[in-house]
Parts: sequence; C-alpha cells; structure tokens
Amino acid sequence: MRHILIIGIGAGNPEHMTVQAINALNRADVLFIPTKGEKKTELAELRRGICARYVTRAGSRTVEFAVPVRRTEGRSYVESVDDWHAGIAAAYEALLESELAEGQTGAFLVWGDPMLYDSTIRIVERVKTRGRVTFGYDVIPGITSLQALCASHRIPLNLVGKPVEITTGRRLAESFPHRNETAVVMLDGEQAFRKIEDPDAEIYWGAYLGTPDEIVIAGRLAEVKEQILEARAAARERMGWIMDIYLLRKGADFEE
Ligand SMILES: C[S@@+](CC[C@H](N)C(=O)[O-])C[C@H]1O[C@@H](n2cnc3c(N)ncnc32)[C@H](O)[C@@H]1O
Repeated sequence: MRHILIIGIGAGNPEHMTVQAINALNRADVLFIPTKGEKKTELAELRRGICARYVTRAGSRTVEFAVPVRRTEGRSYVESVDDWHAGIAAAYEALLESELAEGQTGAFLVWGDPMLYDSTIRIVERVKTRGRVTFGYDVIPGITSLQALCASHRIPLNLVGKPVEITTGRRLAESFPHRNETAVVMLDGEQAFRKIEDPDAEIYWGAYLGTPDEIVIAGRLAEVKEQILEARAAARERMGWIMDIYLLRKGADFEE
C-alpha cells in the first residue's frame, strides 16, 4: 500500500522544522511541493530550501505541482471552496497514481501546521473516500503562524483562564469585542480590524513572520491602526504578496 505523510513545515523560518518533521521528510520516496503561481514563488522557494537543507536520504525525489485556483464567480463561499477542494483532490489523486508506486511513501509539505486553516487533511480524506487509490496516512505537526506571532510579540495567547477565538477577517465582527477578550485573525484580505472602534482594544500584528522580511507592530488599536495599514500596504506593494495575522485583546489577566 502507498503511504502519505502530511508534514507541518512551520510558518516561514526553516528552523521551525521539528525533529519529527525532518525524520518524516527522510522517510519519503517522493516529496510533493505545491507551487501557487508567480506571486508566491517565495513560499515554494522556502519549501525547496527546506528539502535541500534537511533531506539526507539518497534517492528521494521532488515533484512540484500546480494547486488549482479557487473560482468565486457565481458561487457562494461554501460552493466555491467545495469545488476548489474537489479540484485539488483530483490533482492529488492523479499525482499519487502517476508519481507514487505501490509500497512507496509520499510527503506533502504543509505550511505551518496542517490542522490550522489548511485543507490538506480534508482533501486527502476525500481522495481516500473516492477509493481509486488506496493508501494510509499520518500527520506530523508543525509550528503555526499563530505561535510565531505570539513568540515574536513575547505574549501568551490567552488571558489567565480565558478563552480565545480563532477567526477570519470575514467573520471578525461576530466575535470581537462582544464575545471574546482575545481573537486571533487569519486570512484577512480586508483588514477587518479597521472597523473595530473599541477604545480598550489592543492589537499584536505580524507579517511574513519567521522570514527575513518579518514586520511586527503592537499597541492600542486606535493608536496603531493607521501605522499597520500603511506598513501593510507598503510591504504588499514591495513584495507583491502578503501574509499577515493578528491578535486582538481586550482586558487583562485576573480581571473578571
Ligand atoms: C491558509 S492559512 C495557513 C495557516 C497555517 N496552516 C498555519 O499553521 O499558520 C494562511 C494564513 O495564515 C497566516 N500566516 C501563515 N504564515 C504566516 C506568516 N509567516 N506570517 C504571517 N501570517 C501567516 C495568514 O493569516 C495567512 O492568511
């Protein structure tokens, strides 16, 4: 039977690779590297760099593949994601059939950790359910962008004994500041923090975390909002793409 390893590779710093992830890379006969189009070639480059640095096993090979692009026109959000996943599942299935022989192990290198806003596990499950290729699989955890954010700002994720919500820019307004004292926002293309007017809110923002281009800004939201918007726009212009994440906080430890 074929075997797949879904390996978390960390969120930008090659030193995020755990010993378990390095050992898993070296168990693979084939390393699958997604390339996402020109703007994000840096990300494919980072994956290639990780393989060059950590793969010591002789005879393994790398296969790059294009990830299908999500189409949104005429579809609801759920429909568009569902179609997109179906397209990726078909691409994975074709890769496994054509690039991985019976008895071989293939590795998918996943940004950060595979359990956090990533669909590799879901898509591999889809391929398994379709039943055309039979395989087993394991998941190897990685350092997430959320951990990288908290480490760079030197902050704990939660206030003492308090919950945390992890959400997207699209849904931030539902949770912060009414429902939660700490909200972490990922995948925010609209800078949803702009619309938060709470005078007590603080923000811990980070872009390109773990990479040489890392930028971090923290402070009272009302005071640093504009600075973040400007830094973000300038970095995006300079680099051609951006990945950012932020934590919003209200309240303090031991406050009821
Ligand atoms: C598709 S999700 C993948 C998350 C990933 N699985 C993880 O564990 O961090 C992509 C989002 O993660 C965040 N992200 C990932 N890497 C980042 C980095 N190095 N710096 C800032 N944000 C990052 C951004 O919010 C981005 O929109």
